[in-house]
Amino acid sequence: MDLRDRVIVALDVPDVATAKAVVERLGDRATFYKVGYELAFVGGLAFAQDLAKSGKKVFLDLKLHDIPNTIEKGVGQVARMGMAFLTVHAYPQTLAAAARGAAGSNLGILGVSVMTSMDDGDLARAGYGMGVQDLIARRAKQICEAGCAGIVCSATDMATVRGAVGQGLKIVTPGIRPAGAALGDQKRVMTPGEAIRAGIDHMVIGRPITGVADPARAMQAILDEIQAVS
Ligand code: C5P
Repeated sequence: MDLRDRVIVALDVPDVATAKAVVERLGDRATFYKVGYELAFVGGLAFAQDLAKSGKKVFLDLKLHDIPNTIEKGVGQVARMGMAFLTVHAYPQTLAAAARGAAGSNLGILGVSVMTSMDDGDLARAGYGMGVQDLIARRAKQICEAGCAGIVCSATDMATVRGAVGQGLKIVTPGIRPAGAALGDQKRVMTPGEAIRAGIDHMVIGRPITGVADPARAMQAILDEIQAVS
């Protein structure tokens, strides 16, 4: 894998003009971008297609969940947009439908394991009969069985996921902070070097790149750190 593909830059910005400015400043250093809710609803979907056409890889983080027919058809449309990754919630029906929708394309479906905002008490209140780690292990297996490409989980869930499915899934993790970067609202973090050593395939990094005075310099420092441990 091109070392640069390991870093997915989260374009969590309020409008397309700001996103374009970030992409321009990062230039060839960044090959992979994530577009989520904040940008998607203000022209971000068309922008994501333009990015893909310009040769960048794009991760559309829309965390879909609906009846199988709706998922399969909708995912088929995303596959035709030339996206590299799309997230869906990791329910077996939704995973299977998404895999069917993406079949024959280059789109990889990522299952969202368990939202990191949920703890065991939240799961019990939502009616689940198991805790967070057991549910992550179960969902990792189900994502694999459905033929999906990977899983989104926190760096601290890595051992649970690898224990459940070995190398069967690509692992994509947010919560990455270069040493000295502001934590923001992230609590359980790893540095880029630690993430690579832990076996993470792709790290999603937003504010440490997009929210600093010199994004290109921040990106280069992250690439250098990854290179040093690869
Ligand atoms: O700015 P920061 O590096 O914290 O951005 C992390 C990205 O990963 C954001 O787009 C955020 O929505 C996403 N994410 C996360 N934690 C999760 C799931 C997704 O931070 N559990």
